[in-house]
Amino acid sequence: MGHKFTGLKIKEEDSKAILDWTLENPKFIASLPHQPDKMHAGYVKAIFDLDNKDVKNCLENNVWKFVGKKDFSKSTDTKYFKSSHEVEPASRPFPYINLSNINRDIMNHYGIPEDCKIANMGWILSYADESYLCTWHIDNSRDMNAYHTRFNVLLSKPKGGEPILQGREGYTAIGVDKYKPAYGKKFVIPVVENGVWVCVGEKYKHSTVKMEGKKPRILLSFGYIVEKELAKELQLKSIEEWK
Ligand SMILES: [Fe+2]
Repeated sequence: MGHKFTGLKIKEEDSKAILDWTLENPKFIASLPHQPDKMHAGYVKAIFDLDNKDVKNCLENNVWKFVGKKDFSKSTDTKYFKSSHEVEPASRPFPYINLSNINRDIMNHYGIPEDCKIANMGWILSYADESYLCTWHIDNSRDMNAYHTRFNVLLSKPKGGEPILQGREGYTAIGVDKYKPAYGKKFVIPVVENGVWVCVGEKYKHSTVKMEGKKPRILLSFGYIVEKELAKELQLKSIEEWK
């Protein structure tokens, strides 16, 4: 059965701008601190909180010297910048204009409210090689009325590396099941490059298919704290788009 993707594909020019910048800067990427959590193994590097004005300032001006000294209050910023780690400067400023184009297209497509809060870890660019493994985990929002929801897109997709979702209580792999508080089956989203998918990481345990080959897995992830009913709706919409 062939899959016909009916969702949002980000614009080629926006995707290419960020992909080119990423591939141009292997030394910059290698010099970043490792992904600081236990959910991921193998080679994976990430820039967190791309939406944060201090991070934006560093990337836009390509000035990194001061970041280690800066006293960030947000926990993820602290994790990312806590050491006075010397970051290898990038070849040129990060193409923020394309990043905001992609974010705007995602917000429009999914109807994310303008005033929606940005989730813990913010907007992320991550780079993984063939050794990468995302272990099964859930994401938290620490918000009673909303879910940590991520709008993800692969700028570079290797063989494998597809996301896998597994419903938690009341959530099957492919939807919401009010009557069966059982874990759902695993559902592999057959993603292609530049196609956006949604991950409501609090209600779906998630992981990835093992990667193979030399092509890197380059992910852009826009995290928002989405009101519960809307988050459910968007998860279902996304799964429908990939079925
Ligand atoms: Fe996650």
